[in-house]
Amino acid sequence: MHIPTLFTTTLLLLLPTTTVLAHPVTSSTSPSSPLEARQSRPTKPKPCVSIANTTEAQHLANHAKFTDAFIVKKNITAAFEFIRQDYINHNPAAQNGFDSAWNILSPIWSSQSITPLRNTYRHPQGWLNYRSGSFGEVVDRFRWDGGCIAEHWDQGERYPTK
Ligand SMILES: *[C@@H]1O[C@H](CO)[C@@H](O)[C@H](O)[C@H]1NC(C)=O
Ligand SMILES: *[C@@H]1O[C@H](CO)[C@@H](O)[C@H](O)[C@H]1NC(C)=O
Repeated sequence: MHIPTLFTTTLLLLLPTTTVLAHPVTSSTSPSSPLEARQSRPTKPKPCVSIANTTEAQHLANHAKFTDAFIVKKNITAAFEFIRQDYINHNPAAQNGFDSAWNILSPIWSSQSITPLRNTYRHPQGWLNYRSGSFGEVVDRFRWDGGCIAEHWDQGERYPTK
């Protein structure tokens, strides 16, 4: 009884101070302006839905749009419009699926320092090569299907030779 009571009391005593100290941080969850809200919480898009007869030309166009959104504009909302719900992710830090990747990347992506290096599409796969402040030089490989990204690899990937 004694320890929990003391603990509760201590917490209650500390609470006002903690609240004051935490204010600049918690202001991001109750933002004072719409701009702050957009910057702190990107809008989660609907996952991509495959269309079976998507042509190679449409895939190439989607790869270009995804590349621009993901590593040029760093717009994680626009990038994830190409990620399918059942996305298979071979990155060991992530589980499969749109939601796991979104939860990992969406809070950090817009503040990442990204230098795009090159990109390639060879149906049905796309490659991105960029330098990232947090992850160093990255090669991502994506498998496209029905106009959407269905699968991703980034462990020891090598950029395709010409
Ligand atoms: C793709 O399939 C849809 C129906 O599923 C059809 O309306 C459309 O014309 C098809 N497009 C092509 C390019 O074959
Ligand atoms: C990011 O992409 C979304 C969806 O395409 C778009 O609505 C939004 O305006 C874009 N944000 C910026 C800052 O361009």
